[in-house]
Amino acid sequence: MKTSSKIIIAAICVVVVCAIVYRAVNTTPSKSMPADERVAKILDSGGCIDCHTAEPSLPFYANWPIAKSVITKDIVDGYKAFDIEPMLVALGSGEAVNEVDLAKVEKTVLDGTMPLAKYYLVHWGSSLTKKKAAVLLDWIRDHRARFYPNTLAAPEFANESVRPVPDAVEYDPAKAELGYRLYHDTRLSADGTISCATCHGLNTGGVDNLKYSEGIGGQLGGVNAPTVYNAVFNFAQFWDGRAATLADQAAGPPLNPVEMGCKSFDEIVARLSKDRAFVKEFTAAYPEGLSQATITDAIEQFERTLVTPNSPFDLYLKGDKTAMTADQIKGFELFKEYSCATCHAGVNMGGLSYELMGQRADYFKDRELQEKSGLTDGDNGRWAQTGIERDRFRFRTPGLRNVALTYPYYHDGSVKTLEEAVSMMARYQVGEELTEEQVASITDFLHALTGQYKGVTLVNDNMK
Ligand code: HEC
Ligand code: HEC
Ligand code: HEC
Repeated sequence: MKTSSKIIIAAICVVVVCAIVYRAVNTTPSKSMPADERVAKILDSGGCIDCHTAEPSLPFYANWPIAKSVITKDIVDGYKAFDIEPMLVALGSGEAVNEVDLAKVEKTVLDGTMPLAKYYLVHWGSSLTKKKAAVLLDWIRDHRARFYPNTLAAPEFANESVRPVPDAVEYDPAKAELGYRLYHDTRLSADGTISCATCHGLNTGGVDNLKYSEGIGGQLGGVNAPTVYNAVFNFAQFWDGRAATLADQAAGPPLNPVEMGCKSFDEIVARLSKDRAFVKEFTAAYPEGLSQATITDAIEQFERTLVTPNSPFDLYLKGDKTAMTADQIKGFELFKEYSCATCHAGVNMGGLSYELMGQRADYFKDRELQEKSGLTDGDNGRWAQTGIERDRFRFRTPGLRNVALTYPYYHDGSVKTLEEAVSMMARYQVGEELTEEQVASITDFLHALTGQYKGVTLVNDNMK
């Protein structure tokens, strides 16, 4: 090699080392900094921001030929797996970080998997030191205590990403009673054959146990019906998150041509108005009278009662060590070890984020091979609402409460047993093949998530 090339290479090395050192020093957070700012600095110095945002500011050497292809792939895969932007925004404004994001970052820090070890020495300049990792974990604990106080759990479980179901959430009893009746009222459908309860039976786990629901005139929908139990804890309703609240949600089915098939709420109001006794009771609670707004509000008030506390798992979290069997406790440990408790975090153990179905393996390709059927509109998930390509195949994660009763599983209702749903989750979302024994333990644990409605343990009449 010519001396001049050697000098150039040496010079390049010096520049890279200087850049790395400069960055490490410049982004080392000091103790006097406010906690949120300190955490933001750590995420920056760990390269987290470079790999986990839509438009990262690449380091200057990212344009060098080999570095470029490696870095580009990291960023594409990293952003697909995790969008750190909402967390940074929350940090900047002092607001609550999403529980799922907290759980995911916590898990990667505990496992030591981020930043990607094989790369940070080469080009990202900084790993997460033990000290920075500890700062992150402390901050996550404090942030949870501040925004998601886990007052129901025993002290040793206060910092878990999953929390017990509260005994009740606030609702108006008189309105909820009217909502209960509307929920069971077939006058909400065009031909008087279908009520909400047809597809979300309270004695069938809040679902219909069908792959696709059967609506008016025997028409089939295009996605599986999720449960109404604990839906109040979801951050948005429907697989694609198109309804922000339960009342918004309740306006959907009556006008859906394949569900209840009404032309408008005026049609429903006209039918109900003929029922003098009902109108009298209704206007006692809602002086403004029957309308889309009041009908859906009453249904929401009723749905707010559909919380199911006191499952064996809840009792266990509250400190009763005998509430779960040894195998269920083992299943809970595996549930955390295999990252299930990240996407399935919070009170409902899900319902708080949009997640790509097939994070680690191509679910839809495998399904096509097996079922010999192509993609459906329902498979588009969140994309149907946003049109953003990253949102395709991304679904509002289902909660896992009472999941033993709510078969079949997934948005396409394609999975019949809970065992299969568990082992496929490990394969497609976590990138792991579980042993039969591990699947059995996790499934056993999921059976401990069946709670009580109005003091009685939920059962599913279809399973008798
Ligand atoms: C060099 C690019 C890169 C850097 C730097 C990086 N990540 Fe990642 N991250 C990835 C990739 C790639 C994946 C997807 C891994 C996979 O699918 O196997 C990922 C996945 C994740 C996930 C999703 C959970 C998971 O295991 O899939 C989280 C959370 C995460 N990273 C957080 C972080 C944090 C926090 C930092 C900073 C300490 C960080 N990342 C730094 C590339 C990066
Ligand atoms: C014909 C069957 C059918 C009827 C009738 C029906 N639903 Fe649904 N429900 C579904 C299906 C299917 C979905 C999922 C649709 C989607 O995500 O696009 C759903 C979704 C929901 C959700 C969202 C749950 C979640 O986790 O996202 C709630 C809440 C709900 N329905 C309540 C109701 C109420 C209240 C009524 C009556 C006003 C009703 N449903 C009528 C089938 C039905
Ligand atoms: C990356 C996020 C993510 C991780 C990690 C994850 N899940 Fe899921 N889970 C989802 C999503 C999204 C769905 C819905 C998939 C669909 O409908 O196509 C789901 C669905 C499920 C269902 C079916 C629920 C229903 O009502 O249809 C079960 C059971 C489940 N997950 C269990 C687990 C277990 C056990 C693990 C750990 C091995 C796990 N999940 C890990 C995101 C995740």
